[in-house]
Formats: sequence, structure tokens, C-alpha cells
Amino acid sequence: MLAKIHRGVKKKNSMTKKLKTLTGMHDIFGGEIALWQKLEKVSRQILENAGYAEIRMPLLEDTTLFARGIGQDNQVVAKEMYTFGDRGDDSITLRPEGTASVVRAFVEHGFDKQEEVTKLYYLGPMFRYERPQKGRQRQFHQIGAEVLGVDSPLADAELVILVDRIAKQMGLSGYDVEINSLGTFVERKPYLQNLKNYFEKLAQDFCDDCQRKLKTNLLRIFDCKIESCQKLCQEAPVLLDVLGAESKKDFQIFQEQLKKAGVHFKINARIVRGLDYYEKNTFEFVSNKLGSQSAFAGGGRYNHLVEELGGPATPGVGFSIGCERVVMLMQELPKVAAGRSGVYFAALSEDAVLKSREFLQDLRDQGIKADSFFGVKSLKAQLRRANKLNYKYVVMMGEDELKKNTVVLKNLETGEQKEVAWEFKLFQSLG
Ligand code: HAM
Repeated sequence: MLAKIHRGVKKKNSMTKKLKTLTGMHDIFGGEIALWQKLEKVSRQILENAGYAEIRMPLLEDTTLFARGIGQDNQVVAKEMYTFGDRGDDSITLRPEGTASVVRAFVEHGFDKQEEVTKLYYLGPMFRYERPQKGRQRQFHQIGAEVLGVDSPLADAELVILVDRIAKQMGLSGYDVEINSLGTFVERKPYLQNLKNYFEKLAQDFCDDCQRKLKTNLLRIFDCKIESCQKLCQEAPVLLDVLGAESKKDFQIFQEQLKKAGVHFKINARIVRGLDYYEKNTFEFVSNKLGSQSAFAGGGRYNHLVEELGGPATPGVGFSIGCERVVMLMQELPKVAAGRSGVYFAALSEDAVLKSREFLQDLRDQGIKADSFFGVKSLKAQLRRANKLNYKYVVMMGEDELKKNTVVLKNLETGEQKEVAWEFKLFQSLG
């Protein structure tokens, strides 16, 4: 039966296997959820405030989209994509990033015909079959934004400032904003030839992976974490030294804009970015508190991606924030005690359980947070639960109170307790 469902997949599963999340994929729950919700809420507010509209793309796309968009020889495409044939034998891929999908949507729906400049944001899961480690998952989440239709360093700077403001509102500090210019594809051609000549002379000293990159993806050699390779890169020519006039000017304006907005940045001539579509201004947000996976956001300009994906010549620029890494940084911050709110009903008899359901629905209908257990439980257990869930009030109801149409109201903040006539206006006034 399973073999029939999963055609072509190795039959590791059995009906008795203990089920758990796949390697590199995690459930997100409990105390962490408040941090995720805060990150999502603040990002939405900041992005919408700056004129970005939300777009929700499918998780699955035609494999060609990423092969053409990110680059056939790129490590993400060649080694890390979740790609498989669907039941119609089409090759489909779980999106490894959002930019290619946004551009696909831009072209598919002719957004350029509706507005001169398109500003979109998205949030959701991405999938890369990487070796999991701290800060690196196979399913991870990004909040991203893209500006299409304008080749201006002002747009590049706007995006960096937005990431900076989101990070600050999350309480993060002590991170570095690193910027670079990768020049245009035209400027890069002679540079790449130079770099190749330079690296080839040292080829035997590079690690196996870098030796492979020497043939397929030269610039990514700068990304190698191995110390001996990094040393070899130190003396290598950098793109910043050979930029054309326009790239230089754009990089200059980019920096001026960041300074004016109070974003402290460093120029890092070795940022090459992991995806092949980048040109001109690029950036990364890094924190040394994250370990080796130190970037919690990254992005840059991509002026040929729309054309590459079959659309009209349209420049673009964008960023993505890695949510897991931002949440990791938020977890390090001093905890602020969450305020208590809402009403918990502690019913002490079957009749009280039924009555409490009526009362709590009345409160919920009026927008007041209210909950109860579905049956009778000891008072001690119910108080413990109300406390754990951070409720402000507990309403205790037993047979006596039912007869008198009263409740015992306990304020968990002050410990104060009194018997009062039941009326839910009471809670509106108590807040
Ligand atoms: P990226 O640098 O590949 O860029 O990813 C952006 C961020 O996503 C990274 O800085 C990191 O925080 C997070 N990230 C990436 N891979 C993982 C992983 N395996 N586990 C946890 N977090 C991860 C992009 O994806 C581009 N689409 C950004 C962009 C938008 N460029 C232009 N527009």
C-alpha cells in the first residue's frame, strides 16, 4: 500500500515504524510561538507601513523555475533541492527560496502592467536538503521582500533599512550589516577570468569542494569555511576593485543612504551570496552569537532574473530574513514577563461544567479571552492550570454557587478572592 502511494521512493517505511519529524524539520510550539508571532506581526507592520503588499506563493513549483532562476550549477540547485516527479511525471520542487517564485508570479500575472514599481513581501517555509546543524534546518522559514521595476540604490538601501528596523524591534543588537557590490554580469566577466587564473595556480592547495567550485562556481570559493582555503582567498583579487562607474556610484549612494538612516555597516568585499542571480549591491546581516551559520538575513540586487524567467527586462532587489536564526537570537534576550489576561472557569460539579460553558461563550463572544476544562477536575489542578496558562482571573463554581447564582472570583495577580453575583459586565470592567 505505501509502496503504491510513494512510487519511486525507497521503501524504508513500515506500518510499525515509530513516527517522528524528518531530519532537519521541527515542530514549533510552546513558549517559542510567542516569539514567532511577534516576529511575524512586527515584520508585517513594518513592511506594510513601507508600502509592501503580501503575496502567498505555492510551496511547490516547476523544477525549471529554480534551475533557470538560481543557476543550474549552483549548490542549492545541484545538491539541496527536494525535487521529485509528481503523479503526472512532471518534475516539481519544494521551493528552496522565495525570490524565484515571486518573479514567476510577477511575470505570470503581468504585475509590471499594473504598476511601475512592484513591492511585495512573503513569509513561509523553504526547503533545502542540507546537512542539519545549529541554525541550519532542511525546512526553515523566511520573511522576504522584493522590489521589482526600479534599478535604484535607494531601493537597495530601503530594504536594508527595513531589515535593520525589524531586527531592532525584535530587540536584537550587536549584529553586523555587511555590504558589497558584485558589479554587473558584464563587469564580472573579465574579473572572473582573472580570478580563475589566480586560483588555478593554487588549485592543489584548495579543499575538494573548492576544486569543484573552480570549475563550476568560482565566486563561491570565497564562502568556504575551511581556514586554509580562506587564507588562499585573502590575497585574491576582489570585485570591488574593478567595478564600473555605475556600480561604483550605486554602491556609494547605497552607503550614504544607510548612514543617513543610522544603519552601521561594514564593507565586506568577500560577500558573494549563495545564489547566482545577484548583481551590484548585496548585503548580509550577521551575528557572532549564531555560531558558524551566522547570517540571519541576506539579499541584494538581481537585474536579469525577470528576463531569465521569461518576463520583460525588469530590475529587481530583495532580502530574506531567516526566521529560525532571528528567533534563536531573541531567545538569548532577557525575558519580559508576559502580562496576565483572561478568565479561567474552574467548575467543581457536572452542572457547573455545563453552566461554565455558557458563561465562557458569553465572554468569548464579547472578545474576552476565556477557557475551561471540559469536565470536573480538582480545584487544585484547575488553579494550577490557570496559573500556568497566565490567566488573570479564575472563576470557581460549585453546587452552592450555582444555587445562589454567584461565583467565587480570584484575581491571580493579587491573590484577592471574593464571592460575587455572576454577570459578565463585571469582567469587562475588570479588563
Ligand atoms: P539566502 O541567503 O539563501 O537568500 O537565505 C536568506 C536567509 O535565510 C539566510 O541569511 C539565513 O538566515 C536563512 N537560511 C538559509 N538557509 C537556511 C537553512 N538551511 N536553515 C535555516 N536558515 C536558513 C535567499 O534565500 C534569497 N532569496 C534572498 C533574497 C531575496 N535575495 C533577493 N531577494
